[in-house]
Amino acid sequence: MLAAASPRPLWLQPRNFKLPGMKVGIIGGTGKFGAALALRLREAGHEVVLGSRDASRAEEAAAELGVSGATNADCVRGVDLAVLAVKAEGAIETAAELAGPLASTPLLCVAAELRFGSGGVRPTLEARSLAERVADAVGAPVVAGLHSLAASNLAADLPDEDTLVCGDDADSKELVLGLAGQLVAGRAIDAGPLAGARTLEGLTAVIVNVNKRYRAHAGVRLTGLA
Ligand SMILES: NC(=O)c1ccc[n+]([C@@H]2O[C@H](COP(=O)([O-])OP(=O)(O)OC[C@H]3O[C@@H](n4cnc5c(N)ncnc54)[C@H](OP(=O)(O)O)[C@@H]3O)[C@@H](O)[C@H]2O)c1
Repeated sequence: MLAAASPRPLWLQPRNFKLPGMKVGIIGGTGKFGAALALRLREAGHEVVLGSRDASRAEEAAAELGVSGATNADCVRGVDLAVLAVKAEGAIETAAELAGPLASTPLLCVAAELRFGSGGVRPTLEARSLAERVADAVGAPVVAGLHSLAASNLAADLPDEDTLVCGDDADSKELVLGLAGQLVAGRAIDAGPLAGARTLEGLTAVIVNVNKRYRAHAGVRLTGLA
C-alpha cells in the first residue's frame, strides 16, 4: 500500500519519486500486455507474480521475465494490487471465479471489448463498461486504466504518453495512479469515477483504428495540465 501521504498528486511527483515496493499479481500475465506490464513493474522495483489458467504456462512465461508464476487464483493471494489482463472475452467470468481469492484486494481492469469487422474496429454495444460489469462480479474495489498503452510500446520502454485511470474507490485509484505513473514517460491522470471506463474502453477502438490507418503505435497526451 502507499505509505506516506503526499501533498502533491502522484503524477506530478518528480520522476525520481520512489513508491514503496509493491506486490502485483497479473491475471492472464502470459499474454502480450501482461508480459510487458510485468517487465516495467519489475524494473520499477515491484514484485510481480504472473498468473495463468495453467500453472506451468505461468512459470514458463515468468522465468523469461525474471518474475514468479502461478495459477490465476494463486497470483492474487497476498498482493497489494491485482491486474485483470486476460483476453477481454474472458474478463467477467475470470473475475467472478477469482472473487474469493481476491477478497478486498484492489483490481485493475485494463480490458476493452472490441468488435473487429469490415470498415474497422468498433467498441462494444454494451451500455456499461467491462470494468463496471467486472465490479459487479467481485467484492474488490475495481479501477480501470492503461487501456491506451499498446503492449508493444510498453514492452520497448516507458511509453512517451499519458495514461488515464478511473475508479470509484479513492484509495485504490490512488494506488493505481502511483504505479501507472511509473509505467509511462508522461503522466498518470485521474479520469474520474469508474463509469468513465465506458469512454476509456471505447477510446481503445479509436486508437486501434488510428494505428491501422497510419501504421503507428499511437498513444494519448492530454494538453492543458501542468
Ligand atoms: N495488447 C495490448 O496492446 C493491450 C493494451 C491495453 C490493454 N489491453 C488489454 O489487456 C488484456 C490482455 O491483452 P493481450 O493482448 O495480452 O491478450 P492475449 O495475449 O490475447 O491474452 C492474455 C491472456 O489471457 C488469457 N486468456 C485467453 N482467453 C481467456 C479466457 N477465455 N478466459 C481467461 N483467460 C483467457 C491467456 O492466458 P492463459 O491461457 O495463460 O490463461 C492469455 O495469455 C486484454 O483485455 C486487452 O483488452 C491490451
